[in-house]
Amino acid sequence: MSKPRQQLETIKRDGLAEMAAAADLAALDAVRVKYLGRKGAVRAAFDLLPTLPKEERPAIGALANEVNQVLTAALEERKQALEGAARRSGPKLDLTLPGRAPAIGRQHPLTQVTDQIVRIFQRMGFAVADGPDIETEYYNFDALNTPADHPARDIQDTFYIQKDQGVLLRTHTSPVQVHVMEKQQPPVRVVVPGRCYRRDEIDATHHANFQQVEGLYVDRNVSVANLKGDCEFFFKQLLGPQTRVRFRPHFFPFTEPSFEIDLNSPTLRARGKEWLEIAGCGMVNPRVFEYVGYDAEQWTGYAFGMGIERIAMILYGIDDIRLFYENDLRFLRQF
Ligand code: PHE
Repeated sequence: MSKPRQQLETIKRDGLAEMAAAADLAALDAVRVKYLGRKGAVRAAFDLLPTLPKEERPAIGALANEVNQVLTAALEERKQALEGAARRSGPKLDLTLPGRAPAIGRQHPLTQVTDQIVRIFQRMGFAVADGPDIETEYYNFDALNTPADHPARDIQDTFYIQKDQGVLLRTHTSPVQVHVMEKQQPPVRVVVPGRCYRRDEIDATHHANFQQVEGLYVDRNVSVANLKGDCEFFFKQLLGPQTRVRFRPHFFPFTEPSFEIDLNSPTLRARGKEWLEIAGCGMVNPRVFEYVGYDAEQWTGYAFGMGIERIAMILYGIDDIRLFYENDLRFLRQF
């Protein structure tokens, strides 16, 4: 093989090999300059043509053209492959990196406290019931022996949805007492956690939307002694054996006699508070039994309703009820 022919074959072989080995576009461009650039190997081969014997020139010239074409085509092909790879890989995927842990949420403090309260009552034999937030005046007031002129029925105190139809947001969980007793015969032993709504001025201890746990126990011979004993047991379970409970005479249309329960616990004492009003309760008024068709001669019962926010505030030492409803994560993450 003639020397120029051999040189061209070498240029072709090395050029192809170096292009295939170019790892990125920059490396490939360096190979392009080396072989196909203005001072590259192919150009140099063309420049040698006039120095060759006349009879060799056509064949070597043809070969130089072929080498030029082959390398130009190979360059283009490799360039496209590298560009495609660069586009496809994007940000590098490193399978050895630790995964991103999903943020684990938690239950709202009021939900946690509600669960604690309900669990204690379940151990005492109570079932859980619920009822609608949107009520009728019948369930919220009438069947609870609350007369038409009672202040709670005023539009100033209650959110009416349709005043003329008597549809409203329940002001307490007590209407569920009526729903439960309409559906089942005694004995009844239920607790009812749920939301309540009042047109209260919102401040550190009042909210227009708050939660209660209602309790209802109806059986033969249920007495005030059961009411007091069960409430005291419950609060000691929830807040510790040092907790003290006080019953003050009160009035509710649907219980007779009626009481308010005040609490005194170590956490309260630590914050310099003596007694905190925590619940209303009493013996179910026989008039309520009449509304649901229970025989008041046979059955007696007690009922209570306590504020969940108040209990949570004692339990956690929180001094502003509004914190529960502001969804500030700095507050919520503490529970
Ligand atoms: N429903 C009353 C209130 O919201 C509380 C209560 C419930 C009182 C059951 C007596 C019996 O104030």
